[in-house]
Amino acid sequence: MKFSLTTAIDYTNGAPHIGHAYEKVLADAIARYHRLKGDDVFFLTGVDQHGQKVQQSAQKQGVAPSEFVAGITAKFLALWKTLDISCDAWAATVEPVHKHCVQAMLQLLWDTGHFYKSKQAGYYSVRQEQFLTDKERGPDGEFGPEWGEVVLIEEENYFFKLAAHRQWLLDLIDVRSAAGTPFVVPDFRVAELRNAVEKLSGDLCISRPKSRLEWGIELPFDKDFVTYVWFDALSNYVSFAGYDPTPGADNSLFHSRWPALHVIGKDIMVPPHGIYWPIMLKACGFADADIPTLLVHGWWNIAGSKMSKSEGNIVDPAVLAETFGVAATRYYLLSDIATGRDSDFSEERLILRYNTDLANSLGNLLNRTLSMAKRYRSGILKKSDSPLAAFVAEKCAAYSRRMDAFEVHAAIESTWEIIVRCNAYVEESAPWKLAKDPASAEKLDEVLYSLAEALRVVSILITPIIPESAAAIRSQLQWDGPLSIARCEWGLLADGHQLGDPVPVFPRIERE
Ligand code: ME8
Ligand code: MG
Repeated sequence: MKFSLTTAIDYTNGAPHIGHAYEKVLADAIARYHRLKGDDVFFLTGVDQHGQKVQQSAQKQGVAPSEFVAGITAKFLALWKTLDISCDAWAATVEPVHKHCVQAMLQLLWDTGHFYKSKQAGYYSVRQEQFLTDKERGPDGEFGPEWGEVVLIEEENYFFKLAAHRQWLLDLIDVRSAAGTPFVVPDFRVAELRNAVEKLSGDLCISRPKSRLEWGIELPFDKDFVTYVWFDALSNYVSFAGYDPTPGADNSLFHSRWPALHVIGKDIMVPPHGIYWPIMLKACGFADADIPTLLVHGWWNIAGSKMSKSEGNIVDPAVLAETFGVAATRYYLLSDIATGRDSDFSEERLILRYNTDLANSLGNLLNRTLSMAKRYRSGILKKSDSPLAAFVAEKCAAYSRRMDAFEVHAAIESTWEIIVRCNAYVEESAPWKLAKDPASAEKLDEVLYSLAEALRVVSILITPIIPESAAAIRSQLQWDGPLSIARCEWGLLADGHQLGDPVPVFPRIERE
């Protein structure tokens, strides 16, 4: 089966933070799981390099926007390499292939009558790059601080006939929900989106006069304008998947990668991904079946409040990885938040979860299993039936169900149920006593085989979560068979299999 997914493309107006890192690690875990299932995966991520915010940040530093974004882009790329993000393609919106696609989409929509030009006068938020209406006024009648500087401007622009597709979008949302494949996952967000679509009335301004914004993609039919940053940014999902909007173009490669699951944060569901994007695709002639699904994740907060530059509470994921390691960082970001919900970031939690789950539970299980096998049996296993087989199979099934539903945190719980059960099994069966009694030799072989086999299965299950540690465990088990979810099947370690020596994989994090 094909499985395609994308993440939001990160703004290059500032440095990466843990919100960005979480989203990429979440998408990466899902992509890696689908590769384990044998799916043909296409995983796209990247950076959003145009727009007014970037132009302003570059201006402040006195460098050209292209130079400014190149520097920030390099930071994102280095971070994704550090965090083992296994993307198959990289979307950087200054690339010519993207510009070509966006301009062809704009031309297509212009030619087919989806745009019109009109004069607009009104209040404009420089920070949010949008015109404001009375809806945006606070209870005191003023525009709140979230809009930044608000200026009164009058200008001509191009508009996309968005509202014309309101009923179509409502029907799409309802049909998908009724079919059990909601447009938005988790499905508690469907009602939120549906309400927003119900209220959809105006059209979308898709241009910015060059006098105000130069750092963007020029409208192919009017050189005095560049396109609005959302029109540019959203199109990355198709431009970097090989889409060519030119009538008659060969789009077979694109169709092998489409539709994709879009992994995004809750702040960009309404309106861009939940309203603008499906309507843009529909207007470009996409069939309903080719309208993607949104996986909307929640936010990492700091002590209950929003991370922000002005609060000075931004957590740098590169520093986390450097200080605590990649496994600790990935494991924490994936296990301590339920997909779709918010969570509070804290270093104490990161250390606690690492020490408890990785250093203690999994690390000790691996260490004691390999040590006992080495001491009692020179590391050689005797294949036996196991009292753990059925339990492990049940947890593997739960793991797959949960990963298929993108509930990565819950899949991790299923995995740790195996680990916790194994540690209890060591205590119950007390191999150190069995080893002293020649009549218990068979029982000892059964215990050692069961533990090694359970660890082999666990090493597959944690591959999407902490791939490098999973590989280190497999290497100590000396199991290098092909990797797949199907190979979680019990009993694949052969009779006479030789285990390796224990080497600590998860040294405890000690804090002064
Ligand atoms: O919105 N916790 O870029 P962005 C979790 N360029 N996720 C967070 C977060 C947090 N604290 N803060 C941000 C943009 N995110 C646009 C997207 S897509 C065609 C264009 C998530 O850098 C956010 O929800 O502000 C979004 O999905 C992603 O990080 C990039 O945010
Ligand atoms: Mg944002």
